[in-house]
Amino acid sequence: MKLDLGRLRKKGVYALIAEVCAEPFLVQNVEGRILYGDSDSDYTTKYPLLFQDEQFGWISGGKRAYAISRLVMLFAASECEKKELGQETLAKYRELIFLYDITEKLAASLRPQEVAILVISEVNKLIKADKVSLMLINEENGLLEVIARLGEEAKTKLTLKLGEGIAGNIALSGKAEIINDTRRDPRFLEGRHKVSSMMCAPLRIKDRVIGVINLSSAEPANYTAEDLKLLSVLTLQAAAAIENARLYDNLKEAFLTTVSTLAETIDKRDPYTGGHTKRVMEYSLAIGNFLGLSNPERERLKLAAILHDIGKIGVRDNILLKEGKLDETEYNEMKRHTVYGEEVLKYIKFFNDIIPGVKSHHERYDGRGYPEGLSGEQTDIIARIIAVADTFDAMTSDRPYRKALSKEAAFAEIKKNSGSQYDPQVVEAFLKAVAMW
Ligand SMILES: [Fe+2]
Repeated sequence: MKLDLGRLRKKGVYALIAEVCAEPFLVQNVEGRILYGDSDSDYTTKYPLLFQDEQFGWISGGKRAYAISRLVMLFAASECEKKELGQETLAKYRELIFLYDITEKLAASLRPQEVAILVISEVNKLIKADKVSLMLINEENGLLEVIARLGEEAKTKLTLKLGEGIAGNIALSGKAEIINDTRRDPRFLEGRHKVSSMMCAPLRIKDRVIGVINLSSAEPANYTAEDLKLLSVLTLQAAAAIENARLYDNLKEAFLTTVSTLAETIDKRDPYTGGHTKRVMEYSLAIGNFLGLSNPERERLKLAAILHDIGKIGVRDNILLKEGKLDETEYNEMKRHTVYGEEVLKYIKFFNDIIPGVKSHHERYDGRGYPEGLSGEQTDIIARIIAVADTFDAMTSDRPYRKALSKEAAFAEIKKNSGSQYDPQVVEAFLKAVAMW
């Protein structure tokens, strides 16, 4: 990783060191190019700047030059670490996109419980039963838990230890069984009075049992060897589908965590916007509540708010981190973070419905925004909400080129632009929501 000494100057690190050490000094890169300081001064000492045993520059100065060189090395190393962290997260993100895509195709978008409900209703169509239940082994506590059932009474025990009752034994042995007369089976648990016969089969992934399917009947000797064969085939497919759904669920969680970390990393690259993403999410959700959004819409809003600036990973550092105003070309490039956001998210089906929220958060109500110049309700409601939350947080945070506005001044500014820049309905909800804080 190359250390960027020029960046430390931009961040004002040298000026700060000069002020604290009360001594002028000169910073040069390893080729001798001057990065900070006055080359005409008389310097009495010169020290190399090192990182991981490699020299990356020189410090010349007076009696404090050694201390100054140590400070510059510390700052440079911490900058480098920050950059590495960003790159690692990005690599992990790419890897997960790949995995996520494959698993998604296998598992569609069903959750384990939905798959389980589907399985038992299919079983119930093919094999006669008064009650059907599907139990899975909870990977955290090792207990067998009912996750879907048909015709079961509420008082039926929902959790069994491995080896407990008939289902607990099947989970241990891994062998399917027909029990023609439950009253004569010592494993049969008291309480299931209306059950006279049962058929149970384990759900297996290779040698591992992940759960059990139980069918029971009020009639004795209800099941045949043919039924058992059929159930065994069904459980084979069911186990694979459930395992896929579980993996998909885990992967989704890992993916969301990585994406949030990535959003935070982008946040941290610019010290002036630290915590911006989190605040935009909180403001957005507060507005969403006042607008009475449904739960799925709120979920969509939350994700889009977290990821609204994800496209900034596509904007070059010299523009993204530039202190002071951007020129026209730079500003046009910066504006492209909205479309880059769409690029990043469009390959993952799960994120497709948040794309409008991410892509359109800089559109204006009067149609003079970007990237598409959408107006009014052409812009997704999620994006209209994020637009207000995003600007409010930007206005009330310090920036390199201006101080933060007071909350009152920011409210006045947002009110003034209601109907032109912002959706009046969203502004109204926003003012009500922030009045509660
Ligand atoms: Fe943005």
